[in-house]
Amino acid sequence: MTVGELKTIQFDKPVVAGSLKVPGDKSISHRAIMLGSIATGKTTVKGFLEGEDCLRTIDIFRQLGVSIERNGTDVLIESPGIHQWKTPVGELYAGNSGTTARLLLGILSGSSVNSVLTGDDSLSKRPMKRVTNPLQAMGASISGASEGDFLPLSIKGGALKGIDYEMPVASAQVKSAILFAGLNAEGITVVRESAISRDHTERMFKQFGANIQQDGNAVSLQSGQELKGTDVVVPGDISSAAFFMAAAAMIKGSSIKFIDVGLNPTRTGIIKVLEKMGASVEILEQYGENEEPYGIIRVSNSQLKGIVIEGDIIPTLIDELPIIALLATQAEGVTIIKDAEELRVKETDRIAAVTNELIKLGAEIEATEDGMIIKGPTPLKGSNLKSYGDHRLGMMAAIAALITEGPVEIENPSCIAISYPNFFEQLSDLIKKGEDE
Ligand code: S3P
Repeated sequence: MTVGELKTIQFDKPVVAGSLKVPGDKSISHRAIMLGSIATGKTTVKGFLEGEDCLRTIDIFRQLGVSIERNGTDVLIESPGIHQWKTPVGELYAGNSGTTARLLLGILSGSSVNSVLTGDDSLSKRPMKRVTNPLQAMGASISGASEGDFLPLSIKGGALKGIDYEMPVASAQVKSAILFAGLNAEGITVVRESAISRDHTERMFKQFGANIQQDGNAVSLQSGQELKGTDVVVPGDISSAAFFMAAAAMIKGSSIKFIDVGLNPTRTGIIKVLEKMGASVEILEQYGENEEPYGIIRVSNSQLKGIVIEGDIIPTLIDELPIIALLATQAEGVTIIKDAEELRVKETDRIAAVTNELIKLGAEIEATEDGMIIKGPTPLKGSNLKSYGDHRLGMMAAIAALITEGPVEIENPSCIAISYPNFFEQLSDLIKKGEDE
């Protein structure tokens, strides 16, 4: 039942079972629109995510004079190419979307238009200096309050020069912003990361005909490349599937088959964690090696144990940590999450928010500076949970309701549409009545 912005969820000993095709990958959907708009000619996108964040990206490129027609998850882009964009009327609004804002800062810096980029309250508090600093070192003209650390920012497109940049944070958004700028910068642009973050930009650059080299943790790109429109197929978003993977892993008698879900190795940290915790994970089929790998996998319930999650695996499961924290409450022993201080600057401070909300359910969880420590297994009880306007917190609360004694009330659940518009429909399709003990 939804009353205004409050949704009450209660189940009677459910199991989750069946097949699930989750919506398209958010990161890949954004990049398909961006590259299709930078490139000259026609690009088609299949399996586009109709989430609010990705719709913001479409609106912005329309304002820049790119023709984008959308029919559900099919998109047709016809672009004159980045050098023929028109100066937008009004501000470019990125809404809640960090990916839209940060990647656009790189794209707009190397374009020939002047623009002002804005966002909602949450996005306006998220750090942008991590992107504006290297872009300014490339010669970008970006100005705004707090020395360019927060939106709104105004960007004067113009001539850039290549950079050899060692990233202080392992962030695909920072890496991608620099690579996008590098497309139109003089000379070579090199980005070096401490741990490999998602590589969708690199893979898609190749699909659009760019010459980009990946060598260990370094990516390099020669400037002056003309990209040509192409056809992009977006696999299912493993970060959305993760919520149901966790449900299948922790609820007795549950098993879900995930169809056409993305299996890019820079995103599959969740699979490694599930396996290490003792869940049953079977990769049934795998396709699309050279572009974006995807496939069919099955996750089933099994006895779970606590583990340590730290180091290089963190960027490969950064968005999954809220649901992993819930999962850890049902595992035997202690789970320690470290090296994840980036969670503090996501849509909300996810270390504080996850800890606060899981404590309300009776979980034994403690926040640390760069992660969380969770002791399990703990039976959880219903409560009123806040989403903080953060889609992943809202979905964590809904999945928690599958295992709580008593109802969970979610405040402001509509934010889930940011990345997973049909989440509640797919959730109810998977619910089956479990056996009484
Ligand atoms: C994203 C990268 C990640 C992730 C975000 C999407 C992307 O952010 O949290 O949801 O599409 O590049 P960071 O790279 O800043 O960690």
